[in-house]
Amino acid sequence: MEFYQLFFFLLLINMHTFPADASLYPTLTVIPNQNTTMRCNIMGKEEVAWYLLTSSDDFTLLISAEKARTRKILPVHYNKDEKRFILEPDSEVNTAIFTIINITPDDLGLYFCGTKPEFKYQMNFIKVIRLQFKENKEELITCVENKGEASWCEVALMFGGVGAAALLLLLTTVVACTVIRRS
Ligand SMILES: *[C@@H]1O[C@H](CO)[C@@H](O)[C@H](O)[C@H]1NC(C)=O
Repeated sequence: MEFYQLFFFLLLINMHTFPADASLYPTLTVIPNQNTTMRCNIMGKEEVAWYLLTSSDDFTLLISAEKARTRKILPVHYNKDEKRFILEPDSEVNTAIFTIINITPDDLGLYFCGTKPEFKYQMNFIKVIRLQFKENKEELITCVENKGEASWCEVALMFGGVGAAALLLLLTTVVACTVIRRS
């Protein structure tokens, strides 16, 4: 009985925090192996860079570029994965368009676009986008409904979101699985 109470309590928290958490940042929902693009305004900026914060708290520079002084081009200075990351400007070099090819679970997380204004030294993070796979709530519900099917619980864990939401989801799932095993 205790387990059931804890489970429903966690599920309740989950239902309340999940939509709120997801709407904190603009979210790009993708499917594995898809390509995606993110845009960043670079009007009056000199440099642009994209960073990724993953659910394991890694904060990594993915790609950076600096506008050429004399021509409308945006040469890339650093590219962590040249096979999959592309950074291109629009025709006026006012927008930086970052493309990720063949998205894997390692690509999920919060993307920060940083820009450096002309004649300034500091980089400002002006845009955050959450990249996630298609909603994982179905998997969690399946885990709860499919009594005795441990494999579904693993699926739910694999596709868990990032940050606190992921922790809650994980906790709920673990408790749900325990409940299933005990009943
Ligand atoms: C992703 O982009 C690459 C390179 O442009 C292309 O070859 C591939 O077909 C694209 N994949 C999808 C699913 O659109």
